[in-house]
Amino acid sequence: MKTFAYAAIFAAISGALAAPAPTKSNVVRKRAACSSAVQLSGNVFKNKKLHANIYYRSEIEAAVQQMSDASLASAAAKVADVGSFLWIDTIERIGILDDAIAEVPCDDVLGLVIYDLPGRDCAAKASNGELAYTELSRYKSEYIDPIVAKLKANPNTAFALVIEPDSLPNLVTNADLTTCQNSATPYKEGVAYALKNLNLPNVVMYIDAGHGGWLGWNDNLKPGASMLASVYKAAGSPKQVQGVVSNVAGWNAWQLSPGEFENDEDGQWNKCHDEKRYVQYFAPELKSAGMPNHFIVDTGRNAVQGLREEWGDWCNVNGAGFGVRPTSNTGDSLTDAFVWVKPGGESDGTSDTSATRYDSYCGKPDAFKPSPEAGTWNQAYFEMLVKNAKPAF
Ligand code: BGC
Repeated sequence: MKTFAYAAIFAAISGALAAPAPTKSNVVRKRAACSSAVQLSGNVFKNKKLHANIYYRSEIEAAVQQMSDASLASAAAKVADVGSFLWIDTIERIGILDDAIAEVPCDDVLGLVIYDLPGRDCAAKASNGELAYTELSRYKSEYIDPIVAKLKANPNTAFALVIEPDSLPNLVTNADLTTCQNSATPYKEGVAYALKNLNLPNVVMYIDAGHGGWLGWNDNLKPGASMLASVYKAAGSPKQVQGVVSNVAGWNAWQLSPGEFENDEDGQWNKCHDEKRYVQYFAPELKSAGMPNHFIVDTGRNAVQGLREEWGDWCNVNGAGFGVRPTSNTGDSLTDAFVWVKPGGESDGTSDTSATRYDSYCGKPDAFKPSPEAGTWNQAYFEMLVKNAKPAF
């Protein structure tokens, strides 16, 4: 994934003379972390800014180089300064952490997505991962343990972690699929292991809770909360878990009335027609199930509504725009922050019907085509997100 940025950075570091002159972000700037150990509690986003990480920055800088329209290029360049989460989606990518961490000033919090469960993406094909569902022990020893070591080695830096997008929600709603049945134990044990071992003073964690159109259905609210809470408890109720994250790589509005799918025939069976209402209805369920119930919400690509044919359409939605920038100013006491989790411009999945990871959702009429493999850069899609951004850049 994103090998371009990765390779460029290492070329710059190794000082290869033949390498092209490094762009600004290819040089890792050593910045001062905090002068003493960070102790996080409560809403970290109130006092610290989500870090605009070097990897997304280098993707944006490369994208801007390709643009001939000067006004679009200058708008696009501003995206590099927006804080976003860095996805550690393979064991190999743990290697980028040292450079990413070295760059984080004390005022910022580095957002990381923990995303490499055995049998990953059990209900779809686009993001199937590197570990088979039988490889829980590798997940623990080759993925989680080395990440834990890096975060422990940097006690003066603050980290916010999004824990395993889609995993537990899939166990609630896709339990009929053989792939998700196979993944059930490794997901639960893997997430519990991650929560338990990443429970460090300089870390705050949010467990993925899907979105309003997923666990927000009346029949899913309680089973969803009980699934998340049972894994949280299996981890020993770690105190650095602050709650959940919703709308990761998603498209739902924060607040929209009526919601995009509210007047559908089955709309009456769901009260959570925007993410704000999802917080309102899911947070009390989390609380009664016995787990912390603060939210962060991904607003990275939700500027334009009315694009999806169906609520469940998740792949490279055509016509989308960058949404509200990361802020702790949410107007909702249970919502700690709006954040950008999915790095806009990176694909959700390939539209190449012959690819192993082709998922039919990426071929639907409302999906942007052509699109490359999940996680790889799609220049045309990025330009569309910039053009349709609200607020505009
Ligand atoms: C992909 C990951 C990628 C992430 C962020 C996911 O859909 O599977 O490989 O890192 O999106 O773009």
